[in-house]
Formats: sequence, structure tokens, C-alpha cells
Amino acid sequence: RSDHPYVDELVRYGCLMGGKRLRPALLLLSAKSVGPVTPDHLTLAAAMEMIHTATLIHDDVLDEANLRRHLVTVNARWDQQASVLLGDFLFSHAFFLTCSTRSIWACQLISRAANVVCEGELRQKGSRADFALTEDQYYEILDAKTAELCACSCQLGAHFAGADGAQEQCLADYGRWLGRAFQIADDLLDVTGSAERMGKAVGKDAARGKQTYPSVAGVEGSRERARELLGEALASLEGFGSEAQPLRAIARFIVERSS
Ligand code: IPE
Ligand code: IPE
Ligand code: MG
Ligand code: MG
Repeated sequence: RSDHPYVDELVRYGCLMGGKRLRPALLLLSAKSVGPVTPDHLTLAAAMEMIHTATLIHDDVLDEANLRRHLVTVNARWDQQASVLLGDFLFSHAFFLTCSTRSIWACQLISRAANVVCEGELRQKGSRADFALTEDQYYEILDAKTAELCACSCQLGAHFAGADGAQEQCLADYGRWLGRAFQIADDLLDVTGSAERMGKAVGKDAARGKQTYPSVAGVEGSRERARELLGEALASLEGFGSEAQPLRAIARFIVERSS
């Protein structure tokens, strides 16, 4: 909340629109799987959702999206400047809330995770329309922008419920793999899903040259096919004698580069 009506209206709009609240659910369920849910869990669950919401408000600016959680986006209803500042307001409040647990460990884990998410979004922005992006680089970006917060939520839940090191690591890994699968599904839904059912803009990724699972896997798949075709071409040059040497050298170079 804010005492200033303009800020308060934005905060209420940005926060009270309900998403699925997956990250708080992961945090609380991870806690329950280990031990009791404490007031710190509730604070941390709220902080994680606030960070996530801030990233979505900023992401809608990047994607020039006009629909989020079945509502008009902040950038479409107000403007991009309001989105940038509202996102900052939420990020900073989440860090303030985290500090109230008095756990330096939690502060470090959450601020590091938020930093990794921002780096992932920056990397994604930097790789727009970069069709040389490999599947491995795509996975690194996906790990940073999505899986990190899910892993962090599970780890926090476990830690504050008294988990031992092994349990905490298991739940963090679970969150990471779930986050990876979640982003791949989300990328596919941007192509196959409908705005009505998902409550958010679809088709924005390709329109903005954003590298997502379908585009990256598609290019990787065609690279393999191109390699096969070049391999066949190279084989068909066999027996042509020395006049085919330069052609063969070029074909071999391309095959090596693409394999
Ligand atoms: C959207 O996350 C962004 C992605 C990581 C795919 P969610 O699908 O969890 O968004 P909300 O919170 O339910 O709106
Ligand atoms: C997820 O990427 C955004 C963040 C993790 C910040 P997307 O761009 O795929 O998210 P949606 O589809 O807009 O929700
Ligand atoms: Mg987006
Ligand atoms: Mg998406």
C-alpha cells in the first residue's frame, strides 16, 4: 500500500490482480513436506510473489503486451514509465519484507535469485532475433529467468521448516526442474494457446523476435537436417577427382561448423 493515491492505485492494480501464485504455493508446500509453516514462510511467500509480479510488469514492457492475468497491462493502461517504476517499487518492497525475517541467508538467497532473473531477462533481450542461439544457451536463459525463482521458493520453504541439507537440495532441484518444464510449456502455449484462456497476450514472443523453445528447437532441428543434406552432397562428390577438391573443402568446412 501507499499513502499517495496515484501510487496506491498502481500498486493495488499491479498486485491485487491474481495470478496462479505458483511460487508461494511451491514455498508453502515445500515447507509442509518437511515441517511446520511459520510466519516467516508467509512473509517470504509474499516477497517471492512480489518479485515475480515485478518481473512480469517489466516483461510486459519488453514484450509490448497488452493483457496480463485477464486484465489490461500496466503499460497499456498507464504507460511504460509507470510500469518501470511500479516494478522497482515491488522489487524494493520484497527485499524490505525479506529483511524482516532477520535472516541474512534468506536476504542473500532472494536478492541473488532476483539478480539472476534480471540477468536472464537481459540475456533474452540481447539475443532477440539471434538465430544462432543454441539450445544450451536457451536452457541457460530459461534457468535464469524462470527456474531460479521456483528453485529459490522451494529451498526457502524447506529451509525455514527445518529441513536438513539433503532435503533442502532435493526440493531446490525439484523447483528448478519444475520451473524449466513450466517455461517450455509456456513457450509452446505462446504459439498454441489462446489469450482468453491464458489471460495474457499470446504470439508476442515470435512477433518480438524472442528466442523461445519452438524457435530454438526448430533451428537446431533444421541444423541437423542441413548437416545431413551437406553430408549427402559431400558423399556425392566422391569420385569426381581433383576438380571437385575446392567444392569438397567448402562442404567439409560447413559440415564441421554445423555439427
Ligand atoms: C508467467 O508466470 C511467466 C513465466 C515464467 C512463464 P506464471 O504463469 O506463473 O504467471 P502468473 O503469476 O500465474 O500470472
Ligand atoms: C517469462 O517469460 C518472464 C519472466 C520470467 C520474467 P515470458 O515472456 O515467456 O512470460 P509471459 O509469457 O509473458 O508470461
Ligand atoms: Mg512475456
Ligand atoms: Mg511466455
